[in-house]
Amino acid sequence: MDSSLPEWRSYFATTADSYDRLQPVLSPPYSKGLDMIVDLIPFDADDAFEFVDLGCGTAEPTVRVLEHFRHATGTCIDSEPEMLALARRKLVSYSDRIEVREADITSCDIQQCDLVFSAKTIHHVPPAGLPELFARIAGALRLGGCFVLYDAMSVGSHWGASVRQQASRLRQRHLQDAVASGVATQQEIDARVEYKRAMKAAGKDVEYEHSAENMIDAMIDAGFAEVAVVWRMFADAILLAFTPAEDT
Ligand SMILES: C[S@@+](CC[C@H](N)C(=O)[O-])C[C@H]1O[C@@H](n2cnc3c(N)ncnc32)[C@H](O)[C@@H]1O
Repeated sequence: MDSSLPEWRSYFATTADSYDRLQPVLSPPYSKGLDMIVDLIPFDADDAFEFVDLGCGTAEPTVRVLEHFRHATGTCIDSEPEMLALARRKLVSYSDRIEVREADITSCDIQQCDLVFSAKTIHHVPPAGLPELFARIAGALRLGGCFVLYDAMSVGSHWGASVRQQASRLRQRHLQDAVASGVATQQEIDARVEYKRAMKAAGKDVEYEHSAENMIDAMIDAGFAEVAVVWRMFADAILLAFTPAEDT
């Protein structure tokens, strides 16, 4: 274990301040993925509905949803106080429409709602915790409710070296563009990549590689009526799931 790491802090506690600037740099599909969440929400811009954002972080997805859906109200949940502090600041002008909760999504109550979404968070939940989490989400959703899950998911066995190489080329180009345009420096990108590696080695940033197929099966078992992969860019994918439209 690297003794220079602050033992009591998590990866997101220590990287929160630069998260909004560096996350879109380090993850080429991230901004597109957040735009897709808004596009895929099955409501019109003027509809009133209630939502929950699981693992909201600094509230980037929540802000997009509140901006687009002017009558939507909701709750965003995260376990990391440093991320939530930034979320609260960003959400000040929406305070009549959003509640910010500090809680662990693997065990917290999820209020009744029409829509649940989660961006880049479910890979922190161990595989054994998925059935129970999906059952709580299905149970919280009203009839015909929708769950939009955006995250990295493992890819099929036919994705070989050439596909991985193309993903790596895309990421390199994306990083070079960010450096060239002054969004980030190469030094801070290298430092962040090394920091993540060290945090992982220290067990402070635990990630799991779920497959889309396993998550779809777990969602159906949890009570969802329909689930499909509706968007994908290399490993980043969005699952769209609906609860039954009527009591069965
Ligand atoms: C990569 S960030 C994504 C944040 C945000 N959804 C976004 O798209 O920018 C992952 C977030 O999940 C949160 N998280 C991880 N495990 C969690 C858990 N068990 N309960 C609540 N939040 C969790 C972390 O604190 C972090 O803010």
